[in-house]
Amino acid sequence: MSGYELEKKLLAALKANRHRYLSEDAILHEEGLADKFNGCTECAQDVERAIEILRLQGYEIDGDLDQGWHLIACPDTLNHFELEEALHTSFLGRALFTYRMIGSTNDTARLLAVNGAADGTLIVAEEQSRGRGRRGQRWHSPPGGGIYASLILRPGIEPSQAGGLGLLAALSICLGIEQFAGLKPQIKWPNDIYLDGKKLAGILCEAEWSGSELIFLVLGFGINVNVRSFPAEIRACATSLEIETGGKKIPRIELLAEIIDRLEEGYFQYLTDGFTSFLPRVQVRDYLRGRNVLIGLDNGDRLSGTARGIDEGGMLLVEVPGRERLTAVAGGHVLQC
Ligand code: BTN
Repeated sequence: MSGYELEKKLLAALKANRHRYLSEDAILHEEGLADKFNGCTECAQDVERAIEILRLQGYEIDGDLDQGWHLIACPDTLNHFELEEALHTSFLGRALFTYRMIGSTNDTARLLAVNGAADGTLIVAEEQSRGRGRRGQRWHSPPGGGIYASLILRPGIEPSQAGGLGLLAALSICLGIEQFAGLKPQIKWPNDIYLDGKKLAGILCEAEWSGSELIFLVLGFGINVNVRSFPAEIRACATSLEIETGGKKIPRIELLAEIIDRLEEGYFQYLTDGFTSFLPRVQVRDYLRGRNVLIGLDNGDRLSGTARGIDEGGMLLVEVPGRERLTAVAGGHVLQC
């Protein structure tokens, strides 16, 4: 049995017996390991080592080999054991990588994907030292406060369809937040999450192409959960769930698991029915609709007008003065609204 499997089983036994101290024998019996460990002279050391590893992960465990062990508290971190237990998916996150500290989950995801990581692999970090936003911006990624995650997807779709996936991720994040924080965030095209005019979460969708063939997509998202303050340069336009709920602590593991569960459901639907099937749920959360916007287009041009919604292709529809028809914008960013 791998060290990880033993740690997982120990943790399950400790969680199921939080009211008492569990001896090494009791733990082994509880988890059906007694036979495997029968006659093993080193198993006490294995158990002690596994307990130490759990403690290093932040689990507060009282006791020792003589007294037995007792779980006092679980860490408030995005750790592997808790996340694996919380996910109910059949595909997304089945391959899971968790880091206490990383440069950027998107960069690691890309590296893993290039080296053949499975479709649906999830990469999560407690903290990022080089968290990236769109257009080369920095993503504030302090420990303990946010969710920083990236998914590797190999959807085999046309380039024109990729935009819908970012909106699907945005919708899944909104639904998770609605459930856990009781707030009603909106989607600011192309795929920011806004609340009361401030940014709560962002999505960085990066694709690897071979000619016109999509090899893989890295869908990264950052959510400001229990963040109390922001660097001066973004203070005026950023917010968090803790701020917006007036100090409520949101369980990040459960929120992330809920988002991934919803994303999986939506992703399967997207692959069979396309983006149109969840367009109405995106449209009711459209932050830009009816606002005057200035858009920086991907080709460097600018476009100004009034936002009139999002179409079946995930494009932003803009009413431009002097133009008879609405202009559909496939790629760009909002400079002003
Ligand atoms: C944006 O709004 O500009 C996009 C922000 C995306 C941030 C997330 S955090 C997890 C993943 N790793 C990164 O470096 N960036 C994305």
